[in-house]
Amino acid sequence: MKAVIPAAGLGTRFLPVTKAQPKEMLPVYNKPTIQYVVEEAVSSGIDDILIITGKGKRSIEDHFDRSFELEYFLQKSGKTDYLKEIESISEMADIYYVRQKKQKGLGDAISCAKKHIDGEPFAVLLGDTIAQSKIPCTKQLMNVYDKYESTVIAIEEVPDERVERYGIIKGSKIDNSLYRIEDLVEKPKLEEAPSNLGIIGRYVLSHEIFDYIDEVPPGVGGEIQLTDALRLFKESYGCIFNGKLHDIGNTVDWLKSSIEIALEHEDVKEELKEYLMEILK
Ligand code: UTP
Repeated sequence: MKAVIPAAGLGTRFLPVTKAQPKEMLPVYNKPTIQYVVEEAVSSGIDDILIITGKGKRSIEDHFDRSFELEYFLQKSGKTDYLKEIESISEMADIYYVRQKKQKGLGDAISCAKKHIDGEPFAVLLGDTIAQSKIPCTKQLMNVYDKYESTVIAIEEVPDERVERYGIIKGSKIDNSLYRIEDLVEKPKLEEAPSNLGIIGRYVLSHEIFDYIDEVPPGVGGEIQLTDALRLFKESYGCIFNGKLHDIGNTVDWLKSSIEIALEHEDVKEELKEYLMEILK
């Protein structure tokens, strides 16, 4: 299976930071966000990844490319640990790029992948969301796809105050973690939301999605919404994500994620904890 990572958005909620750099390249502790996303695809067994980029996103390509000058310098100066790490980033997977010419929404970004995907089911991982779990989120979805051979979307229960930020599903429960989807709505008002099950940015889609995206008119925010195209599937599933999600699309969530992920690193954990306790006194 191939993976598509849309990373062409303008990141307006993160301005002015994103004026000249992609939000997908913002570091979360010691790695850029999109590296976590690529690592999730790779640990799900995917080695063919298409990143949807756009204007001002060159640093994403540079990050996953080789850097001979840097490698030479690290070798010369005996910094072999760094050298290994730098080399491994460019060897993780076969990464391809296509540019979304105009930022017309997530649905439009996915449609840029049509030629590369060539009729197969494929995974989609949003470039600004980190999903941490024992079994990678994408792998959890691939397992469901193998069983039902239908589109499957990762979902999570979201608190009331966040419902308006998500695509929300209406579904009937099949088992503890699986829903058959009956309807979907993008960013509903809380009182109009059919449930509190939000779409978190991981999908395994059948290729019919490309036809459906062509059919839907612009939706919320005047954008071509992937959620609107997903409504056209006769059969699709929502799978409750078993793990921890970090959405870094806005400044506060990014900051929280950076702290949480830094606290997972033993070498800085105690120092950071002491510091946080000190400043919160
Ligand atoms: P978001 O809506 O969160 O990203 O899209 P955005 O548009 O960059 O952010 P704001 O709303 O302006 O602050 C989720 C993912 O889809 C990609 C983004 O790069 C992000 O990773 N995306 C979004 C595209 O690739 N193209 C688009 O036209 C829109």
